[in-house]
Amino acid sequence: MRTLRPAGRSPSGKRPCTSGARMGGGVALVRGVRGGFHGSCEQRMASLRPAAESRRDPSCASLPGNARVRSPLTPTRRPWPSGRRDSFRRPVLRIRTCPVSPRRGRRRARNPGWTMSDQDLSPLPGRTVLVTGATTGIGLATARQLAERGATVLLHGRTAEEARAAADRLIATAGIDAARLHPVAADFTHLDEVESLANQVVVQHPHLDVLVNNAGIAAPERHTVTTDGNEIAFQVNFLAHYLLTRLLEPALTSDPGGRVVNVSSSLHRTANIQWNDPQRARRYSRLAAYAQSQLALTVFAADPRVTAVSVHPGVCATALMPLYAHEGVTPAEGATHVARLCDPAVEIVNGAYYDRAERVAPAPVATEDRTIKRLNRLADLLVGRTA
Ligand SMILES: NC(=O)c1ccc[n+]([C@@H]2O[C@H](COP(=O)([O-])OP(=O)(O)OC[C@H]3O[C@@H](n4cnc5c(N)ncnc54)[C@H](OP(=O)(O)O)[C@@H]3O)[C@@H](O)[C@H]2O)c1
Repeated sequence: MRTLRPAGRSPSGKRPCTSGARMGGGVALVRGVRGGFHGSCEQRMASLRPAAESRRDPSCASLPGNARVRSPLTPTRRPWPSGRRDSFRRPVLRIRTCPVSPRRGRRRARNPGWTMSDQDLSPLPGRTVLVTGATTGIGLATARQLAERGATVLLHGRTAEEARAAADRLIATAGIDAARLHPVAADFTHLDEVESLANQVVVQHPHLDVLVNNAGIAAPERHTVTTDGNEIAFQVNFLAHYLLTRLLEPALTSDPGGRVVNVSSSLHRTANIQWNDPQRARRYSRLAAYAQSQLALTVFAADPRVTAVSVHPGVCATALMPLYAHEGVTPAEGATHVARLCDPAVEIVNGAYYDRAERVAPAPVATEDRTIKRLNRLADLLVGRTA
């Protein structure tokens, strides 16, 4: 029988869990833990953060009802495949639609408030876009909007069945041509599945125009570690996307308009990256864990090796909404901001952060060169790139 254990819990499930304990061999994976925070607005969440941070893990609360049980596997550290290390030193894409100085952070900070115009968005035939987490919420709505404009969309789901079902839904409800929808799958709690997904995409879609890093979960109530040894929200929301982006380098086009769009969050402003304890094993709060993953995504967009932007889609009425507020706009409305950034006709500033349609300065730490380099080193290590 499969068992689900939070980090630090004994196999019998009786030993009180201790924040900071790591599971040996056994693994607790939580599937799409939904919501659970009840702040009424982001400001309130921000003001709560210090208190949340200092709180110890409330041990032994009951597990969420939609927790999915996984077979325990031995945590692995895969050696970085030969020949790939070099590719990490080259830019993924070399497109810059606007000139950017090496000190882009300061430049953006001096020039925030730029708003994307409401120009008519262009049709997208011939464009190929991979959207992660496209089975529901903002990802599904983004996939729909891009496909309706003629793009070929690779719909990513946690499993092949879920991805297929999402594609069938778009074919049935939006009349999308089935030939332009390609379901692909990977459970981001398993980095080897991310690697397989990337390999599949490189072979089957060697010309990828846009990668939308959208899949995400709320961090669970209790500290939870994947088989790869990472805090689950940090892995699903950031590390899996980091790995996917790096491995898709051969497919990501350097043609004008090629780009990576990270669906990040304004909650990144409330975050810090715990460099000494990125897995949040010593002191865990689900809000801090989620916010850290969003900050990491935002920092990654500022990585000069990648032509990328990050975007806060607004508070949307999805399973993640309780992290932000009690009500939000439709996922389709949030998706318009994501889809707009995928349009090659929309000029982006490489590394910029957008709050819906407006380019604003992200948290200052998000564009610091030192932070970018430090995060790269950390992420390389955690996704299995040794030495
Ligand atoms: N909603 C908001 O107000 C809001 C605000 C700011 C930022 N965001 C960001 O927007 C993004 C999309 O969130 P959403 O609100 O649309 O949430 P959502 O409706 O829960 O969608 C999340 C997507 O990610 C997928 N996913 C979750 N865990 C996964 C895993 N282990 N492996 C592969 N895929 C997985 C989900 O697949 P399943 O259906 O299988 O779970 C789903 O397709 C997230 O990155 C979130 O941080 C949301």
